[in-house]
Amino acid sequence: MPGLPPTVAWLGGPDGTLYLLDQTQLPARVSFRACTHVEHVWEAIRSLGVRGAPAIGVAAAYGLCVATRPFRGLDRAAFLSRTVEAAAYLAGARPTAVNLAWAVERVQARAQQTPADSGADGAWRAMFAEAEAIAGQDADICRRIGQAGAHLVPRGGTVLTHCNAGALATAGRGTALALLYEAHERGVAFRVLVDETRPLLQGARLTAFELAAAGIEARLICDSAAASLMRLGQVQMVVVGADRVAANGDVANKIGTYAVALAARQHGVPFYVAAPLSTFDPRTPTGDAIPIEQRGAEEVRRAGGADVAAPSVACLNPAFDVTPAEFVRAIVTERGLVEPVDAATVRALLGPG
Ligand code: MRU
Repeated sequence: MPGLPPTVAWLGGPDGTLYLLDQTQLPARVSFRACTHVEHVWEAIRSLGVRGAPAIGVAAAYGLCVATRPFRGLDRAAFLSRTVEAAAYLAGARPTAVNLAWAVERVQARAQQTPADSGADGAWRAMFAEAEAIAGQDADICRRIGQAGAHLVPRGGTVLTHCNAGALATAGRGTALALLYEAHERGVAFRVLVDETRPLLQGARLTAFELAAAGIEARLICDSAAASLMRLGQVQMVVVGADRVAANGDVANKIGTYAVALAARQHGVPFYVAAPLSTFDPRTPTGDAIPIEQRGAEEVRRAGGADVAAPSVACLNPAFDVTPAEFVRAIVTERGLVEPVDAATVRALLGPG
């Protein structure tokens, strides 16, 4: 996106280096983590240096290439066994965003599919090509999601979003924010309310930063203001991203999303989710089966780098929540809108198998 640093960049061809934008430093500092070992990639994902479901997937796809590059001299069977180990390690970095497991499985499968006589080096090169494809396709998918949903943005109205589902969460222009970028380019006038998104403030630090760079009028609000602003008629649309969509259409997204969906339902505000097909998980039947990441107490005890509670205060820090399918007006995908959101429409989207 113009005006924004890339989230993931592999520079220098197959023998080059993976760089991940360190989003923990934004918006104060633009800096990159050079990932020369798989542990660097795991740590960047775990610490939210790279975050947002699609960007995590792209980082992990390249991460598998970083992990296995030193083993290109082994025989093919030994190389493939190292690949399986590294894929499991990377997939364990964070549990909720299914794009992570999806991407490492896709890259790993590519290695398995190479002809036996291509050796370990051939398998690795195929994996690298697959990681490059995942990154390139993500940018295209984001653009298509934006085009599929831009007409939903209310002319002259106000759109509320939670967390960051923009360029910084993908290798393209985002999912939820892609609708806003596309509508803005089409000349639609609208305003955005950005939930700050406690505890890690992705809305304040990232979404507000992105929208300002794009020249879109936006105001930051405390998470607790969203429901009241809906009651006052000051919100005409909600759009958020997703970390996993279950087979029945239930959606996991950043903690606080469910509260926004409840308020939107109560006040008749349409609640939309924007997500690529790689975020759908037909193997998870309902939202109840989605693993919810539990993060450390210090993220809750602190805000903006300062302690806000005594060190002895106990905390609970679920990083995601589940919004039932019935609360979602439509899911905007690169293949168009899923509406209504239920098991049948999700099945129709994903096709057989
Ligand atoms: O913990 P994060 O910052 O990785 O959470 C991100 C979100 O919840 C996003 O809304 C989601 O991944 C969609 S990103 C297009």
